[in-house]
Amino acid sequence: MGNRKDHYYNKSKQEGYRSRAAYKLQQFDDRFDVLFGGASVVDLGAAPGGWLQVAAERAGARGKVVGVDFQSITQFETDAGLETVRGDMTEDETRQRVRDAANGSADVVVSDMAPDMTGEYDLDHARSVHLARQALETARELLDAGGHFVVKVFDGRDFQDLLADIEDEFAFVATHSPDASRDASSELYVVGKNHIVAPIAEGDEHTVEIVDTGDEGDGIARIEGYTLFVDDAAEGDTVDVTVTDLKPNYGFAERRDGA
Ligand SMILES: C[S@@+](CC[C@H](N)C(=O)[O-])C[C@H]1O[C@@H](n2cnc3c(N)ncnc32)[C@H](O)[C@@H]1O
Repeated sequence: MGNRKDHYYNKSKQEGYRSRAAYKLQQFDDRFDVLFGGASVVDLGAAPGGWLQVAAERAGARGKVVGVDFQSITQFETDAGLETVRGDMTEDETRQRVRDAANGSADVVVSDMAPDMTGEYDLDHARSVHLARQALETARELLDAGGHFVVKVFDGRDFQDLLADIEDEFAFVATHSPDASRDASSELYVVGKNHIVAPIAEGDEHTVEIVDTGDEGDGIARIEGYTLFVDDAAEGDTVDVTVTDLKPNYGFAERRDGA
């Protein structure tokens, strides 16, 4: 097992990938199926460019790949559909440049960003979670309904909170520790598939039919499959409501007729 690192290092040299990390994305994608032909992909923390190569291969000629890193990424021989941005993803200016390069939307956002390791476990973990949250924020901004998200994070005490936030926004979430990871690492990858986007906005007014009753006795209405909880409404009622609070996969509304 101690040779695994060397194995993937040698393999990447032979096969022309810029990093052994390329195999992590390959294995991950073979298992979770996030990349597809024609996809637009945004890759955060992309240097030296192994993931970019895999993303570009799998997105194909009709795809588009944008990579960002504060380290420079050497130009690719064939870089059709591939664009790189140099900058720090914790800065608004870089995030804006990434949004512009992606024309404001993406099918897939992947992040392999990692902090410089200090060896102090809690600090490295906290900084890694901070980067993962930046990536989640970018995914929120760029992904349409149904989009996919992959993020690296070092395990630790804030991991469950991060995972819960990802679970709130994606229909399917799983955690994976890839084969091609370093042996002793606490590195995990989380995949969120099928980004959930509410089809309504806060403040919207709707007339809805209550089709079910929630655990706490409130009425449940559905708008394009999206669940809306309405206080003081019973199954079978048709009520006028104002949307008050939205989560990605459910929201709350209050009756306008003052019932
Ligand atoms: C593990 S490497 C990525 C390897 C890459 N996936 C590949 O296959 O070649 C992590 C990268 O994250 C980048 N990074 C860390 N923090 C960043 C930040 N705030 N903004 C942009 N890039 C960052 C680092 O510069 C580093 O290149």
